[in-house]
Amino acid sequence: MVQNSYPELNIPARVLLSTGPVNVHPRVYKAMQTPVVGYGEAVFIPIIDGIAAMLAEVFQTKESLTMALSATGSAGIEAGMASVLEPGDVAVIGNYGFFCERMIEMARRQGAEVITVDGEWAKPLDPAAMEAELKKHKSVKLVGMVHAETSTGVSQPLAEISRMAKEHGALMFVDAVTSFGGSEVAVDEWGIDYISSASQKCLSCPPGLAPVAVSQNALETMNNRSTSPSTWYLNIPQIADYWGKDHVYHHTVPISSLYALYEGLRVILDEGLGPRYERHQRNAAALRAGLEALGLSVISDENHRLAQITPVAVPEGVDEARVRARLANDYLIEISRGLGQFAGKIWRVGLMGEASTGANLLLLLSALEEILPKEGYEVPAGAGVAAASKALAGS
Ligand SMILES: Cc1ncc(COP(=O)(O)O)c(C=O)c1O
Repeated sequence: MVQNSYPELNIPARVLLSTGPVNVHPRVYKAMQTPVVGYGEAVFIPIIDGIAAMLAEVFQTKESLTMALSATGSAGIEAGMASVLEPGDVAVIGNYGFFCERMIEMARRQGAEVITVDGEWAKPLDPAAMEAELKKHKSVKLVGMVHAETSTGVSQPLAEISRMAKEHGALMFVDAVTSFGGSEVAVDEWGIDYISSASQKCLSCPPGLAPVAVSQNALETMNNRSTSPSTWYLNIPQIADYWGKDHVYHHTVPISSLYALYEGLRVILDEGLGPRYERHQRNAAALRAGLEALGLSVISDENHRLAQITPVAVPEGVDEARVRARLANDYLIEISRGLGQFAGKIWRVGLMGEASTGANLLLLLSALEEILPKEGYEVPAGAGVAAASKALAGS
């Protein structure tokens, strides 16, 4: 018998306190062992309908169509852009982090005239700056914003900017890759026309699916365009036909990933949206208390901190990559590096979905208490864990 020379898979189980993917819920892994069947079969259609209905609950929408694209978070945003924008359309997009820049570039590649409203990294965008820009333009097709800027750990309020978009006749586009499932996303109340997320963050599923919600208004705009969209695969109205009542074939959807999402959403609804969001807040506050007790500083705007991602300044003289490597190799904990203008300057600690637990954040703090002095940064021994434990106990 010929034996292949490739080693067996041998990946360690780690505590994923990075910006994603994060730890997958055991119920989700179990769901992925469900037998694969055809995408149009009567036994599979209830899974599709169930996902759409559960997404609508988590997106808090009764008005929008909900579905999960066979693609990662980036493609979720790009699908919306490519389906709506035609060459020469005006898109006004907030610019306050790495993923804002990505959205801006995506709109440009559709041939749109993209106007950026520039803010500061690690701070939210001032709605007055958006209003001032919108007033300069007669016709704006869309206003784009990132809800949870993973590169800076800032949560961007959306309702006021969405109201402005409506007043100017523009569609409101939102990247909710990091917020969805970990903090409130109220699509109908905030008046969002297109919003997109990803399966590997607060949903605690493997990467590969992009949940989206599309308003009737956005769908009408997509259907009434005068040019064909640049994309066939990511054209939202065609994908919506599979997720709609007739389940018209578009492409072979990733069956096992959809089982995972189905179960991931059931886990969320079992916990309850309110308790889940509170858990994310409580654990992030405890982590911050612990980090600050070690003399480390959290760089995001104090009043707009994201529970999902905590951005921490790397102390002077500490080799940031070596600390991450020690965490990964010696403690089996992953955290993330800084991106763009924050590269080399910060670490980003994620507490999302299944990974957002008191036990995980205490583990990280105790590991940092051991590693940082070895890397030349003295910390008061035990202070981080003590401060975080106190915060978790609510005292
Ligand atoms: C805010 C935000 N937008 C978009 C993306 C891109 O998602 P993906 O890597 O799944 O394509 C990410 C990924 O981290 C993100 O954090």
